[in-house]
Amino acid sequence: MPGSSKIISQIKDIFQQHFGTPDLIVRSPGRINLIGEHTDYNLGFVLPAAIDKAIYIAISKRDDGEIHLYAGDLSQGFETKLSSLQASDKQWPNFILGVADQLLKAGYTIGGFNAVVMGDVPLGAGLSSSAAVECATAFALNTLFDLGLDKKTMVLFSQKAENEFVGLQCGIMDMFASMFGKKEQVIRLDCRSLDYAYMPFDTTDISILLFDTGVKHSLASSEYNLRRQECEEGVRIIQQKYPGVKSLRDADSKMVEECLAVGDDRVHKRCKFIVEEIQRLQDACTDLINHDMDSFGKKMFITHDGLSKLYEVSCPEADGLVDMVRNDEAVLGARMMGGGFGGCTINLVKKGTEDNLVDEVASQYRKQFVRELKTYAVTIEDGTSLVS
Ligand code: GLA
Repeated sequence: MPGSSKIISQIKDIFQQHFGTPDLIVRSPGRINLIGEHTDYNLGFVLPAAIDKAIYIAISKRDDGEIHLYAGDLSQGFETKLSSLQASDKQWPNFILGVADQLLKAGYTIGGFNAVVMGDVPLGAGLSSSAAVECATAFALNTLFDLGLDKKTMVLFSQKAENEFVGLQCGIMDMFASMFGKKEQVIRLDCRSLDYAYMPFDTTDISILLFDTGVKHSLASSEYNLRRQECEEGVRIIQQKYPGVKSLRDADSKMVEECLAVGDDRVHKRCKFIVEEIQRLQDACTDLINHDMDSFGKKMFITHDGLSKLYEVSCPEADGLVDMVRNDEAVLGARMMGGGFGGCTINLVKKGTEDNLVDEVASQYRKQFVRELKTYAVTIEDGTSLVS
């Protein structure tokens, strides 16, 4: 993977300067999601994959119960004690401390540790760098202290760390993708049962390009938590007529129209999108099986429009980037990706057309939004693993 050996040698050097020789190094990747957005916390399906951009954590034991951290990309240190874990307003240590906190709360015995964290997942671009740090930490502490945790348990601890320590009520997708990613495969994850299946994603003729809006709205986390509440409110209303509906996964479009069409317009729109998106993902998986990438791509545009108009988590920059490629023959599908309010759009692009497309879109983006477009070509790679 490009860049990974350079980062590994850098992280070793930095660790050496601060703490000596690491006991181990773990790599945990960022993620993309092909389709199925905001469906994870509604217990539907998602279709993510791990990518070739990752977070690395180098770690070693300490025998004084202290935690000494260093963020290589920020050149910042942080120290605390295992016995007094608290969220820091520096933010980045929280993804590590939150995982240690979960392990302690669950009764696992861990000691103090030194850790250096760094990587090449662009921060704030919606590629789940935070989930990657959490999964890397869980994997590293599990190995270092011989806890015997399986991957699913590590994913659940990582998600809980984000929910309880960081305060974002995120679903399970990002951590699951980072931990369970597999080269050249997407993961069809059932977020209710946590059953999953790998599906080949053939990139012989297709490149996956991410266009980074460069925007990160501060309301991302409060609006995210609000969307969750709006969906829960929809479920409460549907339940009055259909008590068997425990989440939007159990509802269908008929129920949504029958129970929510008159009432809070926002709740109606949010639930309509989710119920349609869960079905759309199932249909998109059929497209994958049939190698019908044109049909798959069209669904991505429909997902974008739903995220923008019904779920209302897009932003003018992401809408603009999708509109710029909507009628371009080179692009099979495009949509905003992840939680929303900024981050990247994901584009499935015919091989050989990438350079022209990037030039065109970057110049339009500059004109329309007075911003320089950052783009990333990504490949699908393996999930969290030990480097050394
Ligand atoms: C963020 C969250 C995920 C998921 C997506 C939207 O990435 O962390 O759990 O809800 O948004 O699909």
